[in-house]
Amino acid sequence: MPRDNKTPLIQKIARKAYSTFKDLNNSSNGDHKALSDKNSELIALVTAVRAADLKIAPRKTKAGSGAAELQSPPVTYMHICETDAFSMGVFLLRTGASIPLHDHPGMNGMLKVLYGKVSIRCFDKLEDSLTAKTPPPLFEPPLSPFQTGSLRRSVLRSIGEFSEESGPCLLTPQQDNLHQIDAVEGPAAFLDILAPPYDPDDGRDCHYYKVLRVAEEAGADVKANEEQQGEEKEKEKEMWLLEIPQPDDFWCGGEPYPGPPVSI
Ligand SMILES: [Fe+2]
Repeated sequence: MPRDNKTPLIQKIARKAYSTFKDLNNSSNGDHKALSDKNSELIALVTAVRAADLKIAPRKTKAGSGAAELQSPPVTYMHICETDAFSMGVFLLRTGASIPLHDHPGMNGMLKVLYGKVSIRCFDKLEDSLTAKTPPPLFEPPLSPFQTGSLRRSVLRSIGEFSEESGPCLLTPQQDNLHQIDAVEGPAAFLDILAPPYDPDDGRDCHYYKVLRVAEEAGADVKANEEQQGEEKEKEKEMWLLEIPQPDDFWCGGEPYPGPPVSI
C-alpha cells in the first residue's frame, strides 16, 4: 500500500471512524471485543495522534487565578466534525477541572489524551435497576421518596490514568458506558469520538449521575478497611447511582478548532 504522508492524521482518523462506525452502528453487535476487532486500524491511528497534529498548544498552569479565570468555563470543546455515524472534537480541561459522571446511551466512544493527564473512572449500568428483587439499601444521607425513581444500579468497572502516551480509553453501549473524567496535576485535553453522536430526539441524551454512599458502609471500620485495600477493592463493586441535573459547577464553553480541516 502506498504511504500517504500528505493527508493530515486527523483526516485519516475521520475517514476511518466514518467507515468503521457506519458499519458498527448498523449492526446490533456493540460488545467490546467486536469493537476492538473492527476498530484496530482506527485505534492505531487514534493512538498516534498528538496535540501538534491538531495545532493545539498545551496550556500551562496559570499562576494565581483572577476573577476572569473563575468565570471562564472549567471545560471547553472544540468541534471538529459530525456525521450521522460519529462526532469528533476536543475537550480541554482547566487545572483541577472534572467532567462529572455521565452516560452515552447506545453509543460507542474513544477518548485519547492529547496533553496533560486525566483520571477516568468507568461504570457499567446494570439493566435490571429497579426490577431487582432486593430493595435498594439505605443511603447516607437518606434519599427522599421522589428520588427513588432516579436510582440506577451500576458497577465500577475501571479506574485508570491516561496521558498522551496512552492508547485510547474505549466505551461501548454495554461496557464502560458511564465515566467521570478528572484533570490530574494541571490542564489536560483529549480527543473525543462518539458513535453515533448524542441525539436527544433519538434516545441519546446525556444524563449526569452521582455515586451514592450506602449507610452501612459509612461505619468507621468499613471505611478504614476500604482505605487500606485501596481502589482495587472498589473495582467490580456494585454501586448505586442517582441521576441528577447537570452539576452547577460544570459547564462547557466552546472554542474554535485550530487544526487541519476535516471532510468526510
Ligand atoms: Fe463522555
